[in-house]
Amino acid sequence: MTFRLLMMIVLPLLAVWTRESAALEIKDVTFSTENAGTVTFKHAAHMKKKRSNTPNISCKACHNQNMVKGQHYTMAQMEQGQSCGQCHNGKKAFALAKCTGCHKVRDVTYKIRQTGQVKFRHTTHLGKKQECGTCHNGIFKTSGNPAVTMKDMEKGISCGACHNGKKAFSLASCITCHPVRDINYAVKGAGKVVFSHTGHLAFQTCNDCHGTLYNASRSKAKVSMAEMEKGSSCGACHDGKTAFTVKEHCATCHKM
Ligand code: HEC
Ligand code: HEC
Ligand code: HEC
Ligand code: HEC
Ligand code: HEC
Ligand code: HEC
Ligand code: HEC
Ligand code: HEC
Ligand code: HEC
Repeated sequence: MTFRLLMMIVLPLLAVWTRESAALEIKDVTFSTENAGTVTFKHAAHMKKKRSNTPNISCKACHNQNMVKGQHYTMAQMEQGQSCGQCHNGKKAFALAKCTGCHKVRDVTYKIRQTGQVKFRHTTHLGKKQECGTCHNGIFKTSGNPAVTMKDMEKGISCGACHNGKKAFSLASCITCHPVRDINYAVKGAGKVVFSHTGHLAFQTCNDCHGTLYNASRSKAKVSMAEMEKGSSCGACHDGKTAFTVKEHCATCHKM
């Protein structure tokens, strides 16, 4: 009698324990999609019991006729309650509309020779509606897009599909995408020089200096005033015609 009572308590506990520990050992499953990156399903996160909104999920809650092992499901099928959609319907678990809850997105960096880096941030582009389809795969494929020029963008291609001054800020606002900062030159004896990008952008655009006079990186070679007087670096413009000359106005550039 006491033995049976003991078993009545111990056996279910044992069953729970083995199920739990077995679950924790089951591998994470990674799904690869063509247009929406990868999705990692974690058994462990789903079997955790302490979370108040997590039901005591049994293997059968998922491994049933709505989720056949090895079969691929589309989002449309999930919307109809299959696979992840059995629970991810905004009631039992977060809704399918929250794409980034499952599909991992990251910042994309464009390395551009003339201007340095441009960052595309998925997060700031995804509003509450989280619509991947606004861009994928019409405006952009997730990778392997051919490089485009600013001229292409002005015709409405790539970023220019929205950055046209109507749907989003215009392409004329270069530095919102191509960030710039002040450049400090330490000069012995003559005082440091601060080159202000923003101060110059009222008169020039990136291409007037980059690709010809400068790379978009700090070149190691120092330029002397004598070289500037012959038209190098700042002297290309600071010649008394395009801008004040380097032969005078020392203090306009050098802060003593
Ligand atoms: C919340 C849903 C869910 C629960 C609960 C769940 N699974 Fe899974 N399981 C999945 C999904 C999704 C996959 C991957 C899709 C597929 O292969 O069909 C998977 C795959 C597996 C795999 C294959 C893993 C591999 O490496 O290929 C095993 C084994 C498995 N589950 C065992 C279990 C067992 C045992 C339990 C209960 C202790 C359990 N699962 C509970 C969703 C679940
Ligand atoms: C609960 C997790 C989850 C959420 C939320 C989710 N997905 Fe998915 N999605 C998946 C999984 C898992 C797969 C792969 C399924 C398979 O291969 O069986 C997938 C596949 C896809 C695919 C390829 C299959 C198809 O339907 O064409 C696309 C595209 C996609 N998802 C887009 C989206 C978009 C857009 C959203 C938001 C509106 C979204 N997903 C929200 C888990 C999710
Ligand atoms: C049996 C119900 C059920 C099914 C089926 C299910 N989930 Fe979940 N999932 C939950 C619950 C409950 C939570 C926790 C509550 C919440 O965050 O809304 C959760 C949380 C998550 C999370 C956040 C926790 C984490 O793992 O980082 C992800 C991601 C997730 N599920 C992906 C998926 C994917 C992908 C599928 C399909 C392959 C799926 N789920 C199928 C119930 C389910
Ligand atoms: C405003 C446009 C836009 C939206 C909306 C958008 N993407 Fe992207 N996505 C991009 C751009 C641009 C790239 C970079 C393409 C390239 O490298 O040529 C990219 C690249 C990707 C990549 C590959 C990058 C990597 O990590 O290697 C994935 C995966 C991706 N997107 C998934 C998504 C998903 C999932 C959504 C919805 C949640 C989404 N995207 C919504 C514009 C967008
Ligand atoms: C909406 C963001 C955005 C704005 C605004 C923008 N650019 Fe770009 N720019 C890019 C991206 C992204 C690339 C790289 C495209 C690629 O490689 O496919 C690029 C490429 C370039 C290139 C190299 C290709 C070419 O056209 O020669 C130059 C130079 C350039 N930008 C200058 C500018 C200038 C000057 C402005 C302002 C008049 C500007 N950009 C405004 C995002 C932007
Ligand atoms: C589907 C439309 C769409 C496309 C395509 C798009 N953007 Fe945007 N972008 C927006 C909107 C909307 C905003 C926010 C509104 C605003 O600031 O005008 C924004 C904001 C930004 C911002 C400021 C916020 C932040 O993330 O720092 C940058 C930078 C930016 N976009 C860069 C890009 C680049 C680079 C591309 C191309 C690779 C691109 N965008 C493509 C719609 C788009
Ligand atoms: C009037 C000339 C001029 C214009 C216009 C200009 N730059 Fe520069 N830029 C410079 C100089 C000078 C340097 C420092 C290069 C050196 O020391 O070799 C520099 C350096 C840079 C660097 C590297 C900075 C660092 O942190 O090391 C980037 C990135 C850059 N510029 C981007 C841009 C972009 C984007 C534009 C257009 C929005 C632009 N520049 C317009 C003169 C210019
Ligand atoms: C348009 C801005 C500008 C003006 C005007 C200018 N300089 Fe310079 N000067 C610089 C910059 C920038 C450097 C550092 C260049 C480098 O490191 O590549 C420099 C470097 C120097 C150096 C160290 C290199 C060398 O040639 O020995 C001296 C000394 C110097 N300046 C003195 C002067 C004097 C004196 C004047 C006035 C006759 C003057 N500068 C006017 C921008 C300016
Ligand atoms: C592509 C032409 C060009 C180049 C290269 C250039 N500048 Fe200028 N700069 C200008 C013009 C145009 C002005 C505004 C007209 C004027 O003040 O004469 C200006 C103004 C300035 C000013 C006064 C306004 C301000 O921003 O404070 C300083 C200081 C200056 N430049 C420093 C430099 C230094 C240092 C360099 C080299 C590292 C340099 N510039 C390279 C064209 C150029």
